[in-house]
Amino acid sequence: MRITATCVSEILERADVLEVVQDFVSLKKKGQNYWACCPFHNEKSSSFSVSQAKQIYKCFGCGKAGSAVNFVMEMEKASYPEALKYLANKYNISLEYEQYQTDEQQEAQTQRESVLIAMNFAKNHYKNLLKTHAEGISVGQAYFKERGFSPQTVEAFELGYSLPQWDNFLQTARNQQFVEEILEQSGLILRNEQGKIYDRFRGRVIFPILDLAGKTIAFGARSLKKDEQPKYLNSPETPVYTKGEMLYGLFQARNEIRKRDNCYLTEGYTDVISMYQTGIQNVVASLGTSLTEKQIRLMRRFTENVTVLYDGDSAGIKASLRGIDMLLAEGLNVKIVLFPEGEDPDSYCQKLDSIAFQAFLESHNQDFITFKTQLYLQDSAGDPLKKATAIREIVQSISKIPDAIKRSVFYQQCSELLGVSEEVLISEGNKLFLKEQDKKHKEKEQENKRTNSKTITPPFDMPDAAFDSLLQGSEMPFFENFEDNFEIPTETELLEKPEKTDKNKTEEHSFSNLQKAIRNQEKESLRLLLKYGQMPLNADLKVWQYLFTELDEMEYHTAEYRKILELYQEKLVEGIEVNADWLKNHFSTQNDPQAVSMIIHLETEKYEISENWEKMHEIVTKTEADVLPDALYKHCLRRKLLVIKEMMKETVEKLTIPLPPDEEQELLIRQINLSQINRDICQELGIVVSGRY
Ligand code: GTP
Ligand code: MN
Repeated sequence: MRITATCVSEILERADVLEVVQDFVSLKKKGQNYWACCPFHNEKSSSFSVSQAKQIYKCFGCGKAGSAVNFVMEMEKASYPEALKYLANKYNISLEYEQYQTDEQQEAQTQRESVLIAMNFAKNHYKNLLKTHAEGISVGQAYFKERGFSPQTVEAFELGYSLPQWDNFLQTARNQQFVEEILEQSGLILRNEQGKIYDRFRGRVIFPILDLAGKTIAFGARSLKKDEQPKYLNSPETPVYTKGEMLYGLFQARNEIRKRDNCYLTEGYTDVISMYQTGIQNVVASLGTSLTEKQIRLMRRFTENVTVLYDGDSAGIKASLRGIDMLLAEGLNVKIVLFPEGEDPDSYCQKLDSIAFQAFLESHNQDFITFKTQLYLQDSAGDPLKKATAIREIVQSISKIPDAIKRSVFYQQCSELLGVSEEVLISEGNKLFLKEQDKKHKEKEQENKRTNSKTITPPFDMPDAAFDSLLQGSEMPFFENFEDNFEIPTETELLEKPEKTDKNKTEEHSFSNLQKAIRNQEKESLRLLLKYGQMPLNADLKVWQYLFTELDEMEYHTAEYRKILELYQEKLVEGIEVNADWLKNHFSTQNDPQAVSMIIHLETEKYEISENWEKMHEIVTKTEADVLPDALYKHCLRRKLLVIKEMMKETVEKLTIPLPPDEEQELLIRQINLSQINRDICQELGIVVSGRY
């Protein structure tokens, strides 16, 4: 749904960059502009400036710059429409939406808005009862006081109280002209089998759950009677609330999380509130459910560092460790604090004073992997079988960490703790990597089978993505026959350079050339792998990982290349990253001089992109390593292009035979899609497109 143009321009006009930035950063005026330490990168001197006259911000350190909207987008990791909404909210501009929504969309929107209004009304109703109703004071306020919550804390979390009557809220809402249908959709009232309706929350204290804009989207309600079940009664899913998508306390905590660059994750409402009151305000709760990916992403908008606080009596610590692997997989740095037996963050921070509690958190936080390793180690002392489980469990966690440098630090540490060689751990990790890759694959395949078993969806933006989806839908039967009549390349063929693919050359493979081109590109894959396999492309990715991921689906037609490749992969599974020397040595001992000489040829192959590079840019030739990411990307595209060409050839061959009309139709659509992808890839590679294949 789109915000109307007039509304957008009103927001843009009203939003003042200085006011917007000041909500997040404290600025000092120097001359014409305002200055601060940049919120987007770490620095000690102020290089972040805001110009009110120009209505822009700019950081001279990291280069980030833009308008008020850009700032909100960057700061809140928000989309453009989300940023506009944020600003509209800040400046009290009511949002107007384009009217061209379908009736259904409009109804859903109206419904959501009505539910939000009802929730807000309910929140105020429960707050008022707590503040002014005799029973609210004698029961509700007394309860919070006993729990040690100050009136300010009660106000900050907008806590409330619900009377024990069946329909106190319902009557009040009716008097305010709320319709029952909306109240029911809001989950605030329930209907029994006889059709009688009554309040969901009765005789409980109320914890409103807010979204990031501070709107009430759900409630948690705690019983006040001993043994009443459930202890916490929550709102059901409604048009405005999906379980597992919000974190309790995030609205109150988010600025502090950003400032401290850390988030404490607890289990309960009361943990959040008590810690907040103690002065630790960067704290949220996962709201009963086990942690979800949505919640993690939400948290990661504000920080990459999470400290998970575990109750001492939480029996299922091991079960909940899985959830933490998800945190690792999202690239978060995870620490753990384990509370003494029988204590939770709420009880413990009420027991200690603020300073002692802070000190406890600081002295008892452990890095998660170390924590997990020690936990399993205690268990498996003297039991080799259990130790094997321990190793697998720990490697599982480490292998989730996307950053390679961090990963290797943990392998090293755990190897010491476990008394197991690093190699064994890495080997297990690589196995998991390849397995994960395989799983992703199969999932994608399934997805594809379900969504487009027959037709292939055109058009594609990215040649790469298009290729992937196409490849997964296809069985590629022609590959099988192709392999049969394929000969081992001769020595001269082996010495050939990969197909030239620069701008001035139209691609010109007739089909017989296609085989040659395929062989050449396969050779190039192997060459890149042998020469650069272990080179890191960035902190998270080595060349071998890139190549295996990108060219995952492709078979090698050439038996000789395949042999080397498979060995390479096998060794990875064993935790060994081999290089050309190792392979040569291996094949010598296997008495396979052909393989040895091939590896030597590959090693000495002259890099030819550098020639083009020099011509094109008239600059000093860079080494291949300098342009490696680009070279790898293009190489993978070239390989994909060749597969497309094979598919086109196969499709055309099929089309030459008379076919039932629907089959023919299908093949034609396939051909059209293939040629579109062919064009896209050629364009990306800067090759003049030819229809030949
Ligand atoms: P207090 O007993 O009030 O101190 O709460 P607590 O936060 O210490 O409760 P507990 O350790 O029993 O549970 C932790 C969190 O799990 C709670 O804050 C709730 O979010 C959730 N929870 C506990 N009991 C229930 C329940 O009966 N139903 C639901 N839906 N959630 C519960
Ligand atoms: Mn408790």
